[in-house]
Amino acid sequence: MSAKIMDGKSFAKQLRADLKRQVAALSNSIGLGTILVGNDPGSVAYVEGKHRDCAEVGIDSIRINLAADASTDQVISAVTQLNNDPLCTGFIVQLPLPKTVDLQKVLSAINPAKDADALTPSNLGKLVLGSAKIIPCTPLAIIALLEEYKVRLSGQEVLIIGRGATVGRPLSILLSQKPHNATVTVAHSATKDLSKLAQSADLIISAVGSTHFFKAEMVKKGAVVVDVGITRVGDQLLGDIDPRVTEVASLFAPMPGGVGPVTRVMLLKNLFEMANK
Ligand SMILES: NC(=O)c1ccc[n+]([C@@H]2O[C@H](COP(=O)([O-])OP(=O)(O)OC[C@H]3O[C@@H](n4cnc5c(N)ncnc54)[C@H](OP(=O)(O)O)[C@@H]3O)[C@@H](O)[C@H]2O)c1
Repeated sequence: MSAKIMDGKSFAKQLRADLKRQVAALSNSIGLGTILVGNDPGSVAYVEGKHRDCAEVGIDSIRINLAADASTDQVISAVTQLNNDPLCTGFIVQLPLPKTVDLQKVLSAINPAKDADALTPSNLGKLVLGSAKIIPCTPLAIIALLEEYKVRLSGQEVLIIGRGATVGRPLSILLSQKPHNATVTVAHSATKDLSKLAQSADLIISAVGSTHFFKAEMVKKGAVVVDVGITRVGDQLLGDIDPRVTEVASLFAPMPGGVGPVTRVMLLKNLFEMANK
């Protein structure tokens, strides 16, 4: 078997073109704010990419860059500035933050109405209740990509590897809810027999961040596999999934080129929804 590759790059290009038309038809302008703490090359590149995407679809950009040794109070004060900026429709704080900054305090300071990545306690609470209007960008991108490739979810056995607050945990809640109706298993670092769980999964989504740790032999023949994990090795970005998985899977979203480009567009789609409210 040779898996069909889920091409996130071309899907994202098509989504950006659609969004550009929708933004042009709006009477009001839209502005994305970003708060970047420090100069980690990966985070700098992600933030640059977000501003490039904004320019492409006609969304304004507001950037706040803070030094790597910024305190929690300094980050919260940048959050307050964007909460109060009428030109900022919504914003994100680029994660991960330095370990010295209290992430939960920062996320709690974001005005939920401007929370473009839906990571505030209030927006995550709505997600659990099934009443969220804005969904965290990566889970939203994974679901959009699966829908684009017409992957059946209802009644399917889905294994999500990783229970992080930005990907695995919200995704597990979304996929188990209506209308997706999947039967979801969440694996993490204390999971005993990942291979056994993987053998019965129709869809496997890995969001761990450990290079090629998930081997092709673990996958059931014909399963759909989505790689979300990112590890930087030198100047290369590598995923969680052993690339030989294409010999066993029916559909494969690789990293890079799968979920990542779609995640970036989902941020802009969230902003568009917020501007439209
Ligand atoms: N492609 C994209 O658009 C995109 C977007 C966002 C994030 N990402 C990437 O996705 C990955 C996950 O992000 P995150 O923010 O959710 O990270 P995170 O909060 O660090 O979560 C990682 C998860 O992996 C689990 N884990 C670690 N080793 C494991 C193992 N051997 N077997 C099973 N589970 C294991 C951890 O378990 P414990 O909970 O037990 O520690 C944890 O739940 C990262 O590589 C990140 O860079 C990609």
